[in-house]
Amino acid sequence: MEEKKKYARTLVTTALPYANGPVHIGHLAGVYVPADIYVRYLRLKGEDVIMIGGSDEHGVPITIKAQKEGVTPQDIVDRYHKIIKDSMEGLGISFDIYGRTTSKTHRATASEFFKKLYDKGEFIEKTSKQFYDEEADQWLADRYITGTCPHCGNDGAYGDQCEACGTSLNAIDLINPRSAITGNVPVLKDTKHWYMPLDKWEPRLRQWILEDHKEWKTNVYGQCKSWLDAGLQPRAVTRDLDWGIPVPIEGADGKVLYVWFDAPIGYISNTIDLLPDTWEKYWKAPDTRIIHFIGKDNIVFHCLIFPAMLMAEGSYQLPDNVPANEFLNLEDDKISTSRNWAVWLHEYLEDFPGKQDVLRYVLTANAPEAKDNNFTWKDFQDRNNNELVAILGNFVNRAIVLTNKYFDGVIPEAHELTDYDRQTIEEFKGVKDELGKALDTFHFRAALSEAMKLARIGNKYLADTEPWKLAKTDMARVETIMNIALQITANLAIAFEPFLPFSAEKLRKMINLENADWNKLGSIDILNAGDRVETPVLLFEKIDDETIKAQTDRLERIKQENILKNFTPKAVAPTVSFDDFQKLDIRVGKVLACEKVKKADKLLKFTIDDGMKGRTIVSGIAKFYQPEDLVGKEVCFIANFAPRTLKGIESQGMILSAEDADGRLVVIGPHGEVRPGVQVG
Ligand code: 2FM
Ligand code: ZN
Repeated sequence: MEEKKKYARTLVTTALPYANGPVHIGHLAGVYVPADIYVRYLRLKGEDVIMIGGSDEHGVPITIKAQKEGVTPQDIVDRYHKIIKDSMEGLGISFDIYGRTTSKTHRATASEFFKKLYDKGEFIEKTSKQFYDEEADQWLADRYITGTCPHCGNDGAYGDQCEACGTSLNAIDLINPRSAITGNVPVLKDTKHWYMPLDKWEPRLRQWILEDHKEWKTNVYGQCKSWLDAGLQPRAVTRDLDWGIPVPIEGADGKVLYVWFDAPIGYISNTIDLLPDTWEKYWKAPDTRIIHFIGKDNIVFHCLIFPAMLMAEGSYQLPDNVPANEFLNLEDDKISTSRNWAVWLHEYLEDFPGKQDVLRYVLTANAPEAKDNNFTWKDFQDRNNNELVAILGNFVNRAIVLTNKYFDGVIPEAHELTDYDRQTIEEFKGVKDELGKALDTFHFRAALSEAMKLARIGNKYLADTEPWKLAKTDMARVETIMNIALQITANLAIAFEPFLPFSAEKLRKMINLENADWNKLGSIDILNAGDRVETPVLLFEKIDDETIKAQTDRLERIKQENILKNFTPKAVAPTVSFDDFQKLDIRVGKVLACEKVKKADKLLKFTIDDGMKGRTIVSGIAKFYQPEDLVGKEVCFIANFAPRTLKGIESQGMILSAEDADGRLVVIGPHGEVRPGVQVG
């Protein structure tokens, strides 16, 4: 195996989330939780590491949101930057800096970067045709144009994408394009822009990724390979827009840097703000290691475009690794900001105070590392109750409670070890190596399960040795057992620090362990006999069904709202003649009795006053009505519908109902009083 490059410091960056909405569990599972685990791990090992984050405050979606709300883009980014920053802090994501791309430093850094590339002749200038709204006197970004999708015929497709069929589009391909601002037909006008000639960098990118970085995650490597194999094209790095960093050259009035040009430079500007005097060594020294944590939709920007920008600039190091994750779904459905289909971090922190680690745990255990993964509230509850409470919390609690009970909180001495003690110690010694290996290679799920293994070992040790039974007969043996159990507890305080920092801190306080030191992991002399432990506090508590139901009910409500919002009436059926219509004998009847049909959860049995001798009708609306609510109501029914037998009951007609967009059936009846038996027509 190739010898590992030595490095002196690590720069960890995390994708800058757009400040046009709060962050959700998808962002957390994909980027911020794994990055935070990694950084905390390196800090525990005493390494030199900084973690850079911040908000991405430019781009078209922000201007669209501002326009919709009738506020300025600055208002939007101020609002969401604060929500994002505060909520990440609330979850214990330990950024060394969380900056923003509207900062002065960033504007200067990004402008200078562009200027340097411009002066070096690294751009090509090209004139192309772009849509323009003459009434609004404004260039139209692709998102500002709507029209008919050439692939699926959806009338509301955007110029960059059709959300109905998911195809990426060019605005120019839309059928009947319209300006989203005025609704007018836009005109095509010439405009000049600056392009990064990615084709020029393709051979170097190929070598750097496909040959020199075969160790990258397969999902990342594979995506890069398919972009490279398809051949790279020049990419525009400027836009006609009034929100962004002005293009810093003459003759570029009204043009700004493309958001994907300035955003990754945000990593650099935020490092400058953090370390004004020493930032350069984190970006330019050859013994620096740069790691970008991102989601899969950002791979092309971090592995091809930003590196090409850095190559063109010439003085920066390229990233060592880009451990991009796949996506997390919510209850088997794609997370979506516009459909409000998400668990928002700031809401979680409000709904589950003090339970930051539960979310961190569940998101790590379900991290979409190799393929898309799924978050469900049921799994959240199960993992909390069956793993955090029943395994980790239970072991720690027993160890501390027993120490208080038998030794008044003083850590006892270990005497002679049995074979079983040695075997247990041997088992958990290996955890440090395994855990380290998994973390070094960005396998956070595997790492978490290694850490849990330690808690399982502890539980098993106490269950097998049963110190509570020995307390009457062999106190010396109990002392040894409890010493070992407490050493395992101390190991847990170290092993879980990167994953569950809040609980690890509580645990350290309980056992009076001032600092967690990674190097001590695996050893049985972390705590000293004679020192004290405190009274126990619960690390985790059970989450009940009601709490979970409140969350699933909320999602159900959102689902229904979305269905209703997106309702479009079905196409009208082929024309029928008056004669055909006349064949249906529709009448008004009064419900005399109504009851559920046994062994059929959908069916209700009606006794209808039809003005004649009365009739029985069975109807499939049981899910939507309580039978007693329909008694006395007038309904419309088809009187000459051929009789059918349902669950042994002959149904003599059909009650009419309307089906709403969400599938709910609503019975149809007259709005004024009419006699049972009259005809509808
Ligand atoms: O996809 C996104 O949310 C982008 N705002 C990520 C930017 S990452 C970096 F380049 F700043
Ligand atoms: Zn489409």
